[in-house]
Amino acid sequence: MKNLIIATKNQGKLKEFKNFLHSFQLSIFAQPNELEVDETGKSFMDNARLKAIAAAKYTSQIALADDSGLCVESLGGAPGVFSSRYANNDSERICKLLKELENIANRNAYFAASLCLSSPSGQILFEVEGRCHGVIVTEPRGKNGFGYDPVFEVNGTGLTFAEMDSQQKSSLSHRSNAFKLLLPKLKTLLD
Ligand code: IMP
Repeated sequence: MKNLIIATKNQGKLKEFKNFLHSFQLSIFAQPNELEVDETGKSFMDNARLKAIAAAKYTSQIALADDSGLCVESLGGAPGVFSSRYANNDSERICKLLKELENIANRNAYFAASLCLSSPSGQILFEVEGRCHGVIVTEPRGKNGFGYDPVFEVNGTGLTFAEMDSQQKSSLSHRSNAFKLLLPKLKTLLD
């Protein structure tokens, strides 16, 4: 059985990745605690690459990393790679976003998730990006999820991510769209 390092220390993310990868014969581990990687990239993919390569070289194993965030059309793609650093906490981030969009008609936005797989020597094996398109609503709705979920309504559903249960969100999300692209490539690599 092959080992795969997930370039995160977040146990929630590790669990989510294990679910997406359940059909593979893989022993899956989080990256070592002592490894710190600065997310200095200009794009989600830059950051996913930085994290995957660092974890792979550090452990001498294949490593998979992700980076994700929200891009709002009328804000020129902001908050983008700064999604988690846009303000101090989720509710302040949502307040700031709604204030920026006050009186703005174009509320189109998308979540993006980049995934990058690195060989133990730091060679990029493949990378994919999944998106989920929607609009930023004017008032938060729903109690589920995290981050910007209460203000992101998914196109064609009439529901924010926070109004969906976890199963519905994960069938539509940017992360699941990225994994749908990753899985056949991973299958070819492991076979
Ligand atoms: P990371 O890729 O886990 O570092 O996530 C970056 C940031 O993007 C998070 O802290 C959230 O603010 C935002 N984000 C990413 N994915 C989602 C999502 O599915 N729902 C809500 N916010 C998200």
